[in-house]
Amino acid sequence: RKEEEEAAALSEEEKLSLKVQATISFQKHFQAKHNDIIIASLPKSGITWLKALAFAIVKRHSFVPSSQNHPLLNSNSHSIVPYFEYNIYGGEDHVVHDLSTISEPRIFGTHIPFPSLSHSIHNSNCKIIYICRNPFDAFISHWHFFKTILPSSETFTLEEAFEWYCEGTHFFGPFWSNILGYWKASKGTPNKVLLLKYEELKANTNFELKKIAQFLDCPFSEEEESGGVIDSIIELCSFKKMKELEINKSGIGHVHFVENKHLFRKGEIGDWVNYFSPSMTEKLSKVIEEKFGGSDLSF
Ligand code: PPS
Repeated sequence: RKEEEEAAALSEEEKLSLKVQATISFQKHFQAKHNDIIIASLPKSGITWLKALAFAIVKRHSFVPSSQNHPLLNSNSHSIVPYFEYNIYGGEDHVVHDLSTISEPRIFGTHIPFPSLSHSIHNSNCKIIYICRNPFDAFISHWHFFKTILPSSETFTLEEAFEWYCEGTHFFGPFWSNILGYWKASKGTPNKVLLLKYEELKANTNFELKKIAQFLDCPFSEEEESGGVIDSIIELCSFKKMKELEINKSGIGHVHFVENKHLFRKGEIGDWVNYFSPSMTEKLSKVIEEKFGGSDLSF
């Protein structure tokens, strides 16, 4: 069985080509609705968490956040909020999933850079929330992820991965252009694109949740605030809670090669210091300074 699986497994090149096909198919066919919500990020920047938070906030009148039957307790957030490039247009079967069954407002996820989103997203009133993360931590998170999911024959060293990362060779990258694309859009069209930082979401979750709800035109009422609705959402989507869920420990993968349990590692800020040498720190700091110098983003 293992041999069959290995034989059937796609090479990295084949997977990449599937992603390119999926992106083109998405660009050609996706028709945005005015009330769609898109959750975007680079990989390993907190999208699993933000998808859960956005869903819990937007659908709170249909699904009470403190309910024991809340959908987020029975499904991983990637099943509830599908990716364009993996789930809807990028399934292994090449079948484009039926979008008519998704209840409005529809919520989607993506890692695709802002300029490459479909025209209908650019031209409609739909809203985009982008989450970015300190590149040091995002890199280490990604490194661990690859080490966990790749067969041993395909692994690479931390140093090799680091060189590629600094050159901008990684999924949906270079990291600076992916982040800066959404950052520029958030400055130019603040009603359409909201940029969040993983670190700020962790440090002041309550404040950031109110910002998200306000941006999505569904602000929390005073009664909701005093009645503990925000606290219930924070608890429902907390790292501890999401990691402990049976579905996330052992459930089927949200994309064919990833098991849900691999999406929850430490959920901390600053873990990179345990892995970076002084020369790596210097090199990535320089890249960040050079690429983000003209923006008001700091990491
Ligand atoms: S992916 O594979 O692109 O969907 O990964 P992504 O969800 O963007 O990022 C994974 C990192 O986010 C951490 N994580 C969380 N942090 C805080 N709260 C919650 N609920 C949460 N869920 C996931 C996860 O542990 C990864 O970070 P690291 O540093 O590897 O722990």
